[in-house]
Amino acid sequence: MQSLLVLGRQPALGLAELESLYGAGKVRPVGDKVAVVDIDPCRLAFDRLGGSVKFCKVLSTLQTTDWRQIEQFLTDTSPEHSRRMPEGKMQLGLSAIGLDVRPERLQATGLSLKKAIRKTGRSVRLIPNKAVELNTAQVMHNRLTGPNGWELVFIRDDEQTIISQTVEVQDIESYTRRDRGRPKRDTRVGMLPPKLAQIIINLAAGQLPQDKLESICDIPAGEPVPKPLLNKNILDPFCGTGVIIQEALLMGYSAYGSDLDQRMVDYSTHNITSWLRDWYDFKTVTGIEKADATAASWNAFPPIDFVASETYLGRPFTVLPKPEILAQTVADCNLIIKKFLQNIHGQLKPGTRLCLAVPAWQIGPDRFKHLPLVDRISDLGYNRVNFEHASGNDLLYYRANQVVARELLVITRK
Ligand SMILES: C[S@@+](CC[C@H](N)C(=O)[O-])C[C@H]1O[C@@H](n2cnc3c(N)ncnc32)[C@H](O)[C@@H]1O
Repeated sequence: MQSLLVLGRQPALGLAELESLYGAGKVRPVGDKVAVVDIDPCRLAFDRLGGSVKFCKVLSTLQTTDWRQIEQFLTDTSPEHSRRMPEGKMQLGLSAIGLDVRPERLQATGLSLKKAIRKTGRSVRLIPNKAVELNTAQVMHNRLTGPNGWELVFIRDDEQTIISQTVEVQDIESYTRRDRGRPKRDTRVGMLPPKLAQIIINLAAGQLPQDKLESICDIPAGEPVPKPLLNKNILDPFCGTGVIIQEALLMGYSAYGSDLDQRMVDYSTHNITSWLRDWYDFKTVTGIEKADATAASWNAFPPIDFVASETYLGRPFTVLPKPEILAQTVADCNLIIKKFLQNIHGQLKPGTRLCLAVPAWQIGPDRFKHLPLVDRISDLGYNRVNFEHASGNDLLYYRANQVVARELLVITRK
């Protein structure tokens, strides 16, 4: 059985993340916001993915994209499926991606399925479609991934339609707690969303040992998920308030961090040791120290396997500054990050992978000024990692009105 992921707001990031973890050959983009991954849904660790919002298992593929034929198939097969579900009221939801169908039509199809299922003696609640896709909150609040829930997601795949069933959606409440719940935060150093931290970690870590991840399948809903211990050490040399360290620990890595600013070292230490530990008993090791990333030697920490970091992003502009101010900021950031890459080079084993969120400045709608070092990474002794399903230029995280974007630079030490 195959897994299907509905990608987040910036699909290229989600695709690169999947490719990084599972290999290009196992990932197939479908349209512009979905990927089919050739991994049994039972073995896919969805809670580790920051770039996908919905996780489905593929049920069937129809050789048509005509909604009438899809509807007929559903009316024929749904009553039989509902018989196999546990007793009790069933929650039914429908979503369509890339198909020529309007919400009203989807709703009408839902009503005829409801009628067909009720004939088998089971009561059904249909979740109304305000849009063709039910969002994450609707799926969660209506328990569509619970034992009596059934969300069917239809995706156009050229001349075919993939029918899939939602297994899990991104746990918005958990992400919010891991972000806003942290006692020490600082708007000036930026607020790295935990899901972006997960993407950065996954892009840095590369392919996962699949056997270690099997343990998190088949966990009953509501039970804590045991995190596999991956026995790898991650370093964040610009750790700020510690979001990357936190997410790396939750993902089963040992995580180390350093920052130039003692206040940030104190913030990270407090967030990890006096807050994260209160509600999550992580077994891996952590260490946080004050250090200038352009000169530090991290020899108090064990050998580093990956570097995952949101580096210095310069001044937090809310509007595009004058050209000379922007030029100065670009030069300052470029110098710090370049000196850091030169400094850490000799401390990493050849082949060590790094994912750095570096600044890029939005100088027009979807037009960016990149750090000069991005195009000269080879001169610094690193190779750029190329992705088959996402271009390096698309690995940008930003919102339309944001001046400072984060560009994800995925490189290996030569
Ligand atoms: C964008 S913030 C990182 C925020 C972080 N991801 C978090 O979770 O809060 C960049 C951090 O780099 C630190 N920094 C700036 N220059 C540095 C240097 N030369 N060495 C180490 N840290 C530095 C700043 O103090 C700041 O905390």
